[in-house]
Amino acid sequence: MARIVAGIGTSHVPAIGAAMDNGLTDSDYWAPLFKGYGPAREWMRKTQPDVAIIIYNDHASAFSLEFIPTFAIGVADTFQPADEGYGPRDVPVVVGHPALAWHLAENLILNEFDMTIVNNLAVDHGLTVPLSIMFDQPDVWPCRVIPVCVNVIQYPPPTGKRCYDLGRAIARIVASFDEDLTVVVFGTGGMSHQLQGERAGVINQPFDIDFLDRLVSDPIGLTERPHVDYIREAGSEGIELVMWLAMRGALGESVRQVYRHYHVPASNTAAGLTVLEPV
Ligand code: DHB
Ligand code: FE
Repeated sequence: MARIVAGIGTSHVPAIGAAMDNGLTDSDYWAPLFKGYGPAREWMRKTQPDVAIIIYNDHASAFSLEFIPTFAIGVADTFQPADEGYGPRDVPVVVGHPALAWHLAENLILNEFDMTIVNNLAVDHGLTVPLSIMFDQPDVWPCRVIPVCVNVIQYPPPTGKRCYDLGRAIARIVASFDEDLTVVVFGTGGMSHQLQGERAGVINQPFDIDFLDRLVSDPIGLTERPHVDYIREAGSEGIELVMWLAMRGALGESVRQVYRHYHVPASNTAAGLTVLEPV
């Protein structure tokens, strides 16, 4: 049987990937952030999951604004890094797990989560930066990956509650997959940040810390937070945090926080990382 062994919440700031790709991680600006990633990478080396289900948002890279699925799942054998305007990142190709991905697609849809099935998906910084954060710079990514996309860039995104319920459904379906696999679930994006408009540069550390705390102790309470609260308190792109609730939903009632790291700034974003294990 497949089994979810952990959840990871992490920001996916493109500049973090660029710092790694350009050898800048020891610079004065980046060193404190990357130092904080060390223990999480060590945990990952020990955990060695077979599969990572990565819940992330595409930033108009694979899906243009002409075509915006609320929830989508990648079922391909492989996923190429997307060209986001400055050439694709020089990172390994992402290898999928089509059998588990189709098992998820089938059972999610038949249980009333109407996923868009994607056979050809270029993966942008929303997915590749979290891989870099957790696995550093290997020649091949050490696990298979199932991309699950959530629309958070075009109003209206799904609610936090709907994302949490999607995570719960993913957990049930993973547990019914008849192969011995260990699975980690990523929720990416956040933390507080706003990239545009008059409030560009918004950072709200108390909001972020409270979110990290309640992800452990009060996830159901967090599912009741309306979108407008995220946008007011955490900036327009803070809404990406609903994807962390999908990750949390996949872990069951109680979790143990194995590791946390929080650092400001990473580009114009507050960067957070949490590693949770079900108990
Ligand atoms: C930036 C982009 C993102 O998608 C994000 O989540 C955080 C920061 C950026 O362009 O700086
Ligand atoms: Fe983003």
